[in-house]
Amino acid sequence: MTALQETPPTLTSTLDVERVLADLTLEEKASLLSGQDFWHTQAVERDGTVVVPAVMVTDGPHGLRKQEASADHLGLGGSVPATCFPTATALGSSWDPGLLRRVGEALGRETRAHDVAVLLGPGVNIKRSPLCGRNFEYVSEDPVVAGDLGAALVQGIQSQGVGTSLKHFAANNQEADRMRVSADVDERTLREIYLPAFERVVTQAQPWTVMCAYNKVNGVYASQHDWLLTSVLRDEWGFEGLVVSDWGAVRERVAGVAAGLDLEMPASGGRTDAEVVAAVRAGELDEAVVDRAARRVLHLVARSLPALTSTDARTVDVDAHHALAREAAAAGTVLLRNDPVDGSPLLPLAGDVAVVGELARTPRYQGAGSSQVKPTRLDDALTALRGAHGEVPFAPGYTVAEGPADERPAEALVAEAVEVARAAGTVVVFLGLPAAYESEGYDRDHMDLPADQVALLRAVAAANPRVVVVLSGGSVVSVSPWQDDVAAVVAGWLGGQAGGSGVVDVLTGAVNPSGKLTETIPLRLEDNPSFGSFPGELGHVRYGEGLLVGYRWYDARRAEVAYPFGHGLSYTTFTYGDVVAEVTGAGAQAGVRVRARITNTGARAGAEVVQVYVGDPESQVQRPVRELKAFAKVDLAPGANEVVTFDIDARDLSYWHPVLRRWVVEGGEFVVAVGASSRDLRGEVRVQVEGEDVTLPLHELSTFGEALAHPVVGGELRAALEANPVDPGLLSMATDMPLAVIADFGMAGLDRAGLEHLVEAAGAGR
Ligand code: BGC
Repeated sequence: MTALQETPPTLTSTLDVERVLADLTLEEKASLLSGQDFWHTQAVERDGTVVVPAVMVTDGPHGLRKQEASADHLGLGGSVPATCFPTATALGSSWDPGLLRRVGEALGRETRAHDVAVLLGPGVNIKRSPLCGRNFEYVSEDPVVAGDLGAALVQGIQSQGVGTSLKHFAANNQEADRMRVSADVDERTLREIYLPAFERVVTQAQPWTVMCAYNKVNGVYASQHDWLLTSVLRDEWGFEGLVVSDWGAVRERVAGVAAGLDLEMPASGGRTDAEVVAAVRAGELDEAVVDRAARRVLHLVARSLPALTSTDARTVDVDAHHALAREAAAAGTVLLRNDPVDGSPLLPLAGDVAVVGELARTPRYQGAGSSQVKPTRLDDALTALRGAHGEVPFAPGYTVAEGPADERPAEALVAEAVEVARAAGTVVVFLGLPAAYESEGYDRDHMDLPADQVALLRAVAAANPRVVVVLSGGSVVSVSPWQDDVAAVVAGWLGGQAGGSGVVDVLTGAVNPSGKLTETIPLRLEDNPSFGSFPGELGHVRYGEGLLVGYRWYDARRAEVAYPFGHGLSYTTFTYGDVVAEVTGAGAQAGVRVRARITNTGARAGAEVVQVYVGDPESQVQRPVRELKAFAKVDLAPGANEVVTFDIDARDLSYWHPVLRRWVVEGGEFVVAVGASSRDLRGEVRVQVEGEDVTLPLHELSTFGEALAHPVVGGELRAALEANPVDPGLLSMATDMPLAVIADFGMAGLDRAGLEHLVEAAGAGR
C-alpha cells in the first residue's frame, strides 16, 4: 500500500445550505457563481471566518490531473502522479459496466485521497467522425454503449463520496472551431443520437455536475441554452446537480445564469459576478434565479465536505490500481482479425517471436490536452513481452518524437526490421498514430497511419508471412490499405499506463480477448456519413446525415466496412441458440423480453458481448435498419452456457416524433436480432407490437394525404372523395398538396368552409 498523499482535514464537515444561503448578500451569492481560480470554487469569508469553503475540481476523465501549482490548463505543466487508466475508447471497448464501475471506484479513491471534490469526466459525446481529435475521450458512435458505460463509471466514482462532471453537453463532436461552431442538428437527431447517452447517465447515475459544451447548438451557445440546460436536462430528465461551464465557455454570463448555467469556470476575476449583480439591480434578472444557482453551488460544496473532512486514511494502493489498469487495458483490447497461417491462427503467440515498431518500446497510452495524466508508472509492450516470453529480438523500424533519438536513415531502420522479422517465427509489428495526430483542440485530417509505418509493414510482411499488427490510437485508423498483408490485427487503443502489459496479456493468451468495437472501421474515410459535412465551415456544421450515424449509415447503405460496430474475436467460440422474443405490453407500456442461450463451444474460458438490435422495418418515418438497444457481457467456462435475458422497453421501440415532440411507439412488426456484432446476427425474431394511436393535429397546410389517413376525419374525407372523384393521375399529385390548395381548387368537393369544419372536427377528436 503506497500513500499518494496524506492531508489532515482542515474543514468542518457540514454546511447548512438554506441557512447559509439566506444569510449571504447578493454580491456574495453572485461570487459563488464563478471560480476562485482555475480549479477552485469561490470561498466566502467574513472577518477571517470561512462561511463557505472553496472546493477543488480537476480533470478527468481517465485519471486525476491535479496540477501542483500554477495551472496551465493544457496539461503541459506538472500534475501529481496518478493512475492513468485506459482512455474512454479503450474502456468502452470492454463493453463491461462492472469493470467500468471498478475503474470508477479506483478513480474516486484517488480523487478523494487528493482532496479533490469533483473529477471532470466522463465524456459521452458521440463519435460522429473518426477524425474528431478528442475521440479517445469518448466512448462510442452509439448512445446506448456510451450511456450505460458512462453511467457505470459515474456510479463507481461517486460511490467514493466525490463527484463527476458529465461532459460536454451537448453536440460537441469535433474540435475544429469548437469554441464557436454551431452544431446544426434537427431535434429528432438530437433526441435519438446526441442526447440519449447524457440522458442515460443522468437518469441512471445522477452525476453531481454536468459540464456544458463550448459550441453552439442550433445557433445558441450551450452555456446559455435554456432548452438544453433547463427544459431537457432538469425538467425532463430530472437532473439534480449543478451545471458547470466548460473552461472559458461563457459568452454572456447573465443569459447563462438565467438559462441554468450555475457555475462559470475558471475565475472571471469578478467581472461576470459584477454583471450578475448589476442585472439584478437593474431588474433584468430575478434574484431568485441567482439564489437557485448559488444554492446548487452550496449543495455541491455541502455534498463534498464529508469526503474532504473524513479522517479515513488517505492512501491509495498504487499497485492494485496499476493491476486494475492492466486488467482494463486487456479487457478493452479488440482482436480484429486472427486468420490461420499454415493451418493455425497466429494468436495467442506460440514459438519464437520478434517485435518491430518503436511504439512497442515507447508507448502511446493517452491523448493530449486537458486529460493528460502523469502516470504512477508506465509499462511498455516490449518489456512485458520479454517478461512473458523470454528472448524477443526487437527493431524499432521507425522513430517517434517521444522515443530515443536514432540518427539512422529510414531505409536502414526498415532493413534492420526486415532482418529481425525474417529470422523470427512470428513477428509482432506495433503501429499507430503519432501523438501529434490526435489531441484535444484539433481534429485529424485523414485516418491513415503514417506512410513510413505502412512502408515498414509492407517490407516486414514480404519477409515473413506470420505478421501480427498491434495498433495504438485513440480512434480508428484505416486498415484496408494494408491489412490483407497480415494475418492478425489487434486494436490496443490508448490503453493507459498499463496498456503495454495489458495488450501483451492478450497476445500471449494470458487473457482471452473479449473487447468489441464501439465504432465502425470504414473501408475509407469517404464512406463515413459525416464526410462532406465535417467539420463544417464559416461557423456552422450541419449534421446532414441525421440519424444515420456510424453503423446506422453503413447498414442503411448496405455498405461494406472493414470491421463492423460490435465486432471483436476471441480465442474461443460461442454459439447463440434458443433466441426468443415475447411482447410484454402495449402502447406506451410496450415492451419485448428477449432471451438467448450463449454457449462457449471452444476449449478456453472466455467472455462474449451479446448485443440486441431492434428495427422497425415498416414505419411512417425513416428509421435505421437496426439499432443497439441492450447488451450484456457473459463469462463462460469451456462448454458452459447461460441464458441471457434483456428487457426492451417502450422507449427502446420509440422514435422521437418531431411534430408531437414526444416519444412514440408505432404499432406493427419489429425485428429483434441478437448477435455478436451489428453484422453478425445469430438469431432474429419478428414480433407484433401494439403501438399508440397517434393523432396529428390538422391544419390548412396539412396535406390531402395526411387528412385522408387521419383517424378522426379521414373517413369523412374519403367519402367526399368518392362522391367527387379526382382523376387518378391528378390524385397522386393531390396527395402532397396542402388542404388549403385542395379547397381553393375545389377538389374532392372541399371548399374553405369545409376545410374549417375538418380542422375543427379533427381538433375536437370527433
Ligand atoms: C476541456 C474540458 C476540461 C476543462 C478543464 C476544457 O478545455 O474541454 O474537458 O475538463 O478544459 O481542463
